[in-house]
Amino acid sequence: MNLVVELDLKSEIRKLKKELNAVLLAHYYQESEIQDLADFVGDSLELSKRAANTEADVIVFAGVHFMAETAKILNPTKKVLIPDLTAGCSLSDSCPAPLFKKFRDEHPDYYAVTYINSSAAVKALSDIICTSSNAEKIIRSIPEEQKILFSPDRNLGRYLMEKTGREMLLWDGTCMVHEQFVQEKITKLKLENPDALIIAHPECEEKVLDISDFIGSTSQLLNFVKESSAKKFIVATEVGIIHQMRKYSPDKIFIPAPPQDSTCACNECPHMKKNTLEKLYLCMQELQPEIILPDDLIEKAYIPIKRMMDLS
Ligand code: 13P
Ligand code: SF4
Repeated sequence: MNLVVELDLKSEIRKLKKELNAVLLAHYYQESEIQDLADFVGDSLELSKRAANTEADVIVFAGVHFMAETAKILNPTKKVLIPDLTAGCSLSDSCPAPLFKKFRDEHPDYYAVTYINSSAAVKALSDIICTSSNAEKIIRSIPEEQKILFSPDRNLGRYLMEKTGREMLLWDGTCMVHEQFVQEKITKLKLENPDALIIAHPECEEKVLDISDFIGSTSQLLNFVKESSAKKFIVATEVGIIHQMRKYSPDKIFIPAPPQDSTCACNECPHMKKNTLEKLYLCMQELQPEIILPDDLIEKAYIPIKRMMDLS
């Protein structure tokens, strides 16, 4: 019975996509069924690029709020829908715009590099945006003598300082999913699976990155797995990515890194998972929730995003 309802929903969503001339963009952390319906699945940078170049009239963003907001900033005249308007992000929430403004005001001679996991209001106060795919390139593009503020992810910031040798002042934010992964549990898994490679997202803590064989954005992790001759991987990022890993590399084995608290499903992002097939269908049917932003905020937030796009 459930199966029939599910199949109907999927075909209704496909129909609505055509009727609305809509493009469905999905992040790798979305549930598998949504990823399979999407016109494009990608990491934050790729999704922004797709949003910037789409011919569609409507952008349906199956991801979290800051991603859909970025799509709106890049397409102010288009309708941008998100299945659940409350799908937020702990990193973005860790950096409220008034506090970020204070941080900037206290360091007037610093250049503000801000991770895309931030609100439009914080982006509007920043000099340049980055994602985990292009952050190293963006940092290296800034003149050596220029002092840098990096916000809001302190783990990504610390990792970038190590990679580039640049000192940066870091905002003290973290991702509630990636900070769940702990070295001790991953090491235990590795001892049980000595042939597995450990792959991690740079939002993980230093101790996890220290024992990782490869560190990268979600798309970089996916590509590494595709190209690697290894057959087994311990994956330290949100478990949703494993759906695409299994699709591209069906002969390989993927072991999700366990969260610190084994009684919860904390390696799933509760914000990303707020979007469901039902909510996706309803938002396309009712053309809401829609991302609405004031024009002046769009104009200000566009500047640092455009700087990133030009460098990517
Ligand atoms: P990427 O997909 O850009 O690596 O980002 C991961 C993430 O945390 C998205 O919220
Ligand atoms: Fe935010 Fe972390 Fe969820 Fe990504 S996984 S949306 S950084 S809370």
